[in-house]
Amino acid sequence: MSDLIEKLNWRYATKRMNGTAVPQEKLDTILEAIKLSPSSVGLQPYTILVIEDKETKEKIHTIANNQPQILESSALLVFAAWEKITANDITEYMNLIATTRGISVESLAGFQSSIQGGILSRSEDVNFQWAARQAYIALGHALVAAATENVDATPMEGFNAEQLDELLGLREKGLRSVVIVTLGYRDEEKDPLVRAKKVRRPHDELFIRI
Ligand SMILES: Cc1cc2nc3c(=O)[nH]c(=O)nc-3n(C[C@H](O)[C@H](O)[C@H](O)COP(=O)(O)O)c2cc1C
Repeated sequence: MSDLIEKLNWRYATKRMNGTAVPQEKLDTILEAIKLSPSSVGLQPYTILVIEDKETKEKIHTIANNQPQILESSALLVFAAWEKITANDITEYMNLIATTRGISVESLAGFQSSIQGGILSRSEDVNFQWAARQAYIALGHALVAAATENVDATPMEGFNAEQLDELLGLREKGLRSVVIVTLGYRDEEKDPLVRAKKVRRPHDELFIRI
C-alpha cells in the first residue's frame, strides 16, 4: 500500500479529540497545503480563518450543534467564500500574477477580459456558489495534508452559517462561511469511531472506466 493510501485509511472524521496542541510546524504545513490548492482560473475566491482562541471556540461550539471536537481541538479552520466577486478583485489578481512572474499587466489583457466576461456576467449568488466549490477543493487539501502530518481533522457542515458569519463579522469582510475543520488529536478512549471500518462504495460502482 502506498504511504498516501495508508495515511488516508488512518484518517477519519474524528468525533472526539483530546485537547493536545498541534505543533506550529504541522499547522503551518497544513496551511501551506491549503495555499497551494488549485482553484478555477487561480483566483482563490475564499479566505480561511484560523481560530485557536478558547473563547471564540466556545462560542462556535454552541452554534455548531455542540459538537465536542470544537472545544477539544487545537485549531479550528473556517473556510469562508467570497460573497461576491468584483472587477477590482480580478484586477488585483492580474497585478499579483504580473508581479509574481515578472511580466507586464498589459500582457495579461486577454486573460483578464476572458475571466471578467465569464465571472462578471454571472449573478452574485452563482459566483458565491462557485467560490464555495473552490473553497471545498482547499478543504480537501487540508484533510489530506493533515493526514500526512498525522494530525486528526474533522470536516463539518453541521453549524449555523449565518450565526457563525455574525460571530466572526464575516459579512463585513465580504465573506460567508461554508465549511469548518477541527484539527487536533483523536481521543482513543472516548471516540466511538476510533476503530470503525471505513465505509466506501465499491470500486466498480464508484468508477466507470471507458
Ligand atoms: C463537507 C463535509 C461535512 C461534514 N460535516 C460533518 C459534521 O458536521 N460533523 C461530523 O462529525 N462529521 C462531518 N463530516 C464527516 C463525514 O461524516 C465523514 O467524512 C464521512 O462519514 C466519511 O467518513 P470518514 O471521513 O471518517 O472516512 C463531514 C464531512 C464532509 C466532507
